[in-house]
Amino acid sequence: MPKLCVNIDHVATLREARRANEPDPAAAVVLAQLGGAQGITAHLREDRRHVNDDDIRRIFEIVRTRFNLEMAPTDEMLGIAENLRPPMATFVPEKRTEVTTEGGLDVVAALARLTEATRRLQAAGIAVSHFIDPTPAQIDAVRAAGADIVELHTGPYANATTPSARTEQLTILENAAAHAKAAGLQLNAGHGLTLRNVLPVAALPSMCEMHIGHSIISAAVMVGMQRAVADMAAAVARGAELGRHYSPGEILHLFTP
Ligand code: PXP
Repeated sequence: MPKLCVNIDHVATLREARRANEPDPAAAVVLAQLGGAQGITAHLREDRRHVNDDDIRRIFEIVRTRFNLEMAPTDEMLGIAENLRPPMATFVPEKRTEVTTEGGLDVVAALARLTEATRRLQAAGIAVSHFIDPTPAQIDAVRAAGADIVELHTGPYANATTPSARTEQLTILENAAAHAKAAGLQLNAGHGLTLRNVLPVAALPSMCEMHIGHSIISAAVMVGMQRAVADMAAAVARGAELGRHYSPGEILHLFTP
């Protein structure tokens, strides 16, 4: 059964919209865990546009599941991770001008630097994940860099606007999932996943962790954090259950309007 890991960045985004002290991402962590989150992710950006250093410190203290520090592989962030020593860190590309993480890391192009950054964190006892576009070349590079985990970027699947484009993107994810498994990497996925599109991804064989933020926090504004997380956890569980009985294409057909 895939684990649901909740990205709480957007609780801080809402706080920073008013430069106020609420809502508190640490409080959201407690409620997310009560709702069934099995992991918590926060992205400490270079520009600290939402989550800040104090949030990370407080969140890390109260996480009772598994904390995943999302970060660009810069010297500053590597130093922060080495001091904090979370159980897991995910390397992502970061651009100041982007609204959210736009594409996967180009591990092929930055293999030497990412190999060194991966080793540095592993030496501090941190399991390292690379967030990549779901291509065989990137997966091979993640393995060559010595990472423990690969997170497949599900954005193109989530953003596909026609059933055939979605099926095409799902096939890419299926092939990438099989490739990651053959490479001996733990398989995670995330970006753009919602209650409407999460089932076929949860149904992919060997799926270990689903990393979901925006749609859960959006629902939480309406129905509360605990309920929003519980609904998504139920959808992930249903996807995994259906995966045993239907092909992903059929699931897509059953659950997309
Ligand atoms: N995984 C990674 C690596 C991300 O950068 C993000 C967005 O911060 C997510 C998952 C979650 O994406 P979303 O907020 O679209 O659910």
